[in-house]
Amino acid sequence: MDQISRQHWSAQRYAQAAHFVPALGAPVLELLAPEPGEHILDLGCGDGVLTEKIAAAGASVVAVDTAPDMVAAARARCLDARVVAGQHLTFDGEFDAVFSNAALHWMRPPEAVLAGVYRALKPGGRFVGEMGGHNNTAAIMVALSAVVGRRGLDARRLSPWWFPSAAAYRAKLEAAGFAVDDIRIVPRPTPLPAGLEAWLDTFTEDFFGALPPSERMPARTEVADLLCPILMDETGTWIADYVRLRFRATRAC
Ligand code: BEZ
Repeated sequence: MDQISRQHWSAQRYAQAAHFVPALGAPVLELLAPEPGEHILDLGCGDGVLTEKIAAAGASVVAVDTAPDMVAAARARCLDARVVAGQHLTFDGEFDAVFSNAALHWMRPPEAVLAGVYRALKPGGRFVGEMGGHNNTAAIMVALSAVVGRRGLDARRLSPWWFPSAAAYRAKLEAAGFAVDDIRIVPRPTPLPAGLEAWLDTFTEDFFGALPPSERMPARTEVADLLCPILMDETGTWIADYVRLRFRATRAC
């Protein structure tokens, strides 16, 4: 069964609080190395900032995301963007490559996603992606667990995310029929230009939305208070403990 996040996505809020997400996508875009004339699927395209870069390389791109507001923002960039869940891909043997940045950790179960990606690719096609990897946002997870735990909730049950190790994701890729060319964990401490509270407001509705409305702001303040000594540097900048899992795999036949 799909595990669907209760997160609501606002393109405007995302652009304000999380514009660093596509801006830091250069390494995975480099790993994709799109060629003119290639047909590429961008899985979890968000507002289309990276999709636009793939198209600028001369590829024809189809972009999909579950969030209607993000798809509308991608369409406003004149992209072929569609509302489709990663667990329900219906493309068949048509893409030279499938690309994904900072989205796969929201899509569970991974087996359904990988089966759809495999089907979408031409034989020999490549799957190139980056997602949250093992220990991603570990301090934030611990703080969220403590704060919702005090209120009788289990953060592990509420969490919409899945942050696999390289070994765990390699096994999933291979079970789905991919040959893994490269897979690695890349720690990437990430400054949050709009601060931790804006990050929490943008991404953690699954946790705070489970609390009574009157508890949400106090709980958010508690999370920030717990994390301040760990994630805020001497200049007052919040730096999140991001860990990336970056990979390139090939559909064998
Ligand atoms: C990430 O890209 O690692 C991420 C973003 C939002 C929530 C959790 C993880």
